[in-house]
Amino acid sequence: MSENDPKPIIRINGLSKHFGAVAAVDDVSLDIMAGEFFALLGPSGCGKSTLLRMLAGLESPSAGAILIDGEDMSRVPANRRPVNMVFQSYAVFPHMSVLDNVGYGLKVTGVPAAEVRARATEALELVKLDDLGARMPDQLSGGQRQRVALARALVKRPKVLLLDEPLSALDAKLREAMRLELVNLQETVGITFIIVTHDQEEALAMADRIAVMDQGVVRQVAPPAELYEFPASRFVADFIGSVNIFEGRVSEARDGVITIDAPALPRPLVVEQDKQVATGAKAWVAVRPEKIDIVKAGAGPLTETQEEAVNTVPGVVEEITYLGDLSIYHVRIAEGAEGLVKIAEPNFDRATNRPFTWEDAVMLSWTADAGVVLDS
Ligand SMILES: Nc1ncnc2c1ncn2[C@@H]1O[C@H](COP(=O)(O)OP(=O)(O)OP(=O)(O)O)[C@@H](O)[C@H]1O
Ligand SMILES: [Mg+2]
Repeated sequence: MSENDPKPIIRINGLSKHFGAVAAVDDVSLDIMAGEFFALLGPSGCGKSTLLRMLAGLESPSAGAILIDGEDMSRVPANRRPVNMVFQSYAVFPHMSVLDNVGYGLKVTGVPAAEVRARATEALELVKLDDLGARMPDQLSGGQRQRVALARALVKRPKVLLLDEPLSALDAKLREAMRLELVNLQETVGITFIIVTHDQEEALAMADRIAVMDQGVVRQVAPPAELYEFPASRFVADFIGSVNIFEGRVSEARDGVITIDAPALPRPLVVEQDKQVATGAKAWVAVRPEKIDIVKAGAGPLTETQEEAVNTVPGVVEEITYLGDLSIYHVRIAEGAEGLVKIAEPNFDRATNRPFTWEDAVMLSWTADAGVVLDS
C-alpha cells in the first residue's frame, strides 16, 4: 500500500446481489485503498466472483452502491469503468501474435496503430515477455499465457485491476513463482489490485489486506498477520490455516487475562488478551498447532515454552503426519474427548530421531499469549 495516498479508490456500500432466493452477496460494505493489493478470500460459492463482477460492471447489484475514485458506478457500463478484469481462463486469440493480442483492446477503441504498438510493447515489458511479442499463443507455456492476459488488462491503464483466481490453472511450483511476480508487478505499476482466491496461502502471501467471505457476507477484513493471529471468529480461525479450538465458558476475566473452563481439559485455559467478555459466557479458545509444545511425558529438562507455559495438557500420540519440513502430531487429550489436538513441530533433526512415537504419553503446553479467545 502506498503511504502517501491512503484514500479509498473503491467504496462499497450495502452491496447485495440476489439470484432468486440465493443472496450471493449480502449487504457488503468495504473500502479498498488506492495502491492496495486486496484479496477476497472464501470457500467456493461464498460470492467472491459475484462481488468482483459487480465491481467490473458485469453484474448489476440488487441493492447498494459502488463508488470508484469518487464516482457512482450505478449508471456506468462495464467498458467505461476505470477497471479491468483478468479471468481464470485467460482466453487469448489463437490466430494473433502475442503483441497483437495485447494491443487488440486498444486497437478496437480507435487508438492509432503506432501508439497501440508502443503501449503493447510496454505492457509486455511489465510482464517480462518483451522478447516473445512475435510468438503465437500456442507456442507459449501456461504461465506465459497468463502473463499475456495480464499484459492485455494492463495495456488499458486501469485504475484498478480485478483478478479472478488468476493462478488457479497453473501447477503448484509456477503458482508460487507467479505470486511473487504479481506482487512485484503491482508495486511497479502502482495501481490497485483486487484478487479473488479460495487459497488462503495465496491470499496471505500476496495481499496487503484480506476480506474473508462466507455465504455472501464479509466476516473479517484485516492484514494477513492480524487475520492469522487474531481471527474474529471460529470460521475465520478455521478457514485461515490450521487451528485447535477448545469450547468452554469464561470463569474469570480481569487485568487482560481470561480464564476459560473447558470441559474437555483437566485444567482451565488461561489466555492473555484484552477483550471484553462476560463471566459465564460461552467462549472458544483457538490455538495454532505450531504454538503448542510437545514432549514425552515425564522426560528431561523443560523447554522454554514449557517453563513459561500456563496451559498444560497430558495426552497420547494417536497419529503422526510427516510433511518433510514439519511433522504434525495428532494427540488424544482425554478418554472420550472429541477430536484430536494438532501440534506442528519443525523437523530440525531427521524425523527418524523423533523422541516419541505412536501410543506414547506426551505433555502438551502453551503460553498464555499463544491462544485467542473467540465469542462466535
Ligand atoms: N448467474 C447466476 N445465477 C444464479 N446463481 C448464481 C449465478 N452466479 C452465481 N450464483 C450463485 O451465487 C453464489 C455465489 O457465487 P460466486 O460465483 O460468486 O461464488 P465464488 O465465491 O466465486 O465461488 P468459487 O470459489 O467456486 O468461484 C453461488 O451460490 C452461486 O451458485
Ligand atoms: Mg468464483
